[in-house]
Amino acid sequence: MSDQTRGATPSSGFFTEENSVATVNARMGKDVDPRLAEVMACLVKHLHNFAREVSLTQEEWDLGIDFLTQTGQICTQERQEFILLSDTLGLSMLVDAINNRRPAGATENTVFGPFHVEGCPIRQMGDQICLDGKGESCLFIGRVLDLDGNPVEGARIDVWSDNAEGYYDVQQPDLQPKWNNRGVFITGADGRYSFVGIKPVSYPIPDDGPVGKMLASLGRHPYRPAHMHYMVRAEGFQKLVTHTFVGGDSYLNSDTVFGVKKTLVAPFVRVEGGSTLWRSDYDFVLARPDQTR
Ligand code: BEZ
Ligand code: FE
Repeated sequence: MSDQTRGATPSSGFFTEENSVATVNARMGKDVDPRLAEVMACLVKHLHNFAREVSLTQEEWDLGIDFLTQTGQICTQERQEFILLSDTLGLSMLVDAINNRRPAGATENTVFGPFHVEGCPIRQMGDQICLDGKGESCLFIGRVLDLDGNPVEGARIDVWSDNAEGYYDVQQPDLQPKWNNRGVFITGADGRYSFVGIKPVSYPIPDDGPVGKMLASLGRHPYRPAHMHYMVRAEGFQKLVTHTFVGGDSYLNSDTVFGVKKTLVAPFVRVEGGSTLWRSDYDFVLARPDQTR
């Protein structure tokens, strides 16, 4: 912890507006885990400086407490409002970027989101993942490669998307079949994958809670551009959590969770006379643990 963060111990020990950071951080025990001490002292510093910089009024802070209370109260097993808050403030994407610095050419990460479900059945390459018969069919096809262009065998590709009405199966357990628009695929020696789903549609993140109200008061919409989620794991490689975005989507430049990266915008090409209406080709390039930027 830097001296500036911990500050000089105030001689009186009493709190003043001027010495607030140092007074609070001086209370930290001597045997506290060093990383915990560093993170908490820095958090206190920035929180206090934030309040100072905006001259936070009592009414504003009461509103803030009320907002955080409501954010906690709406959380359930299925609804994680704090993640939505982190996502819409750009914090999820920042933490993700800090922790996934990859060399050029490796596929970039993006936000995980709250709708992944562990345990989806493993399917055969080429299988259909859309189980409700709705939407415009799309072939998703490509390879999993390493940074030298070699195929990655045994990569586990977990995919999930919304249905044609913009909802994930877990948001509508009584309306959608279980595992609708989800699948897990394992690559063979050629590193190739393919499956049939639907061309995803843009959708609003859950906006009937405090985060939705926050977005509305900030003049922001709650929409995400259409995307297919991927989590690709292979032995000896960094885990890849990403999406491909539907090129041309009208929300690409205003994703409410800031998840879009240029390299993740994929072609979705209309197919004439094929077995699906659309086709999207995309190769995933995995980095090894020591391949960082
Ligand atoms: C999603 O893409 O599933 C998602 C990401 C962040 C917040 C809400 C949903
Ligand atoms: Fe999503």
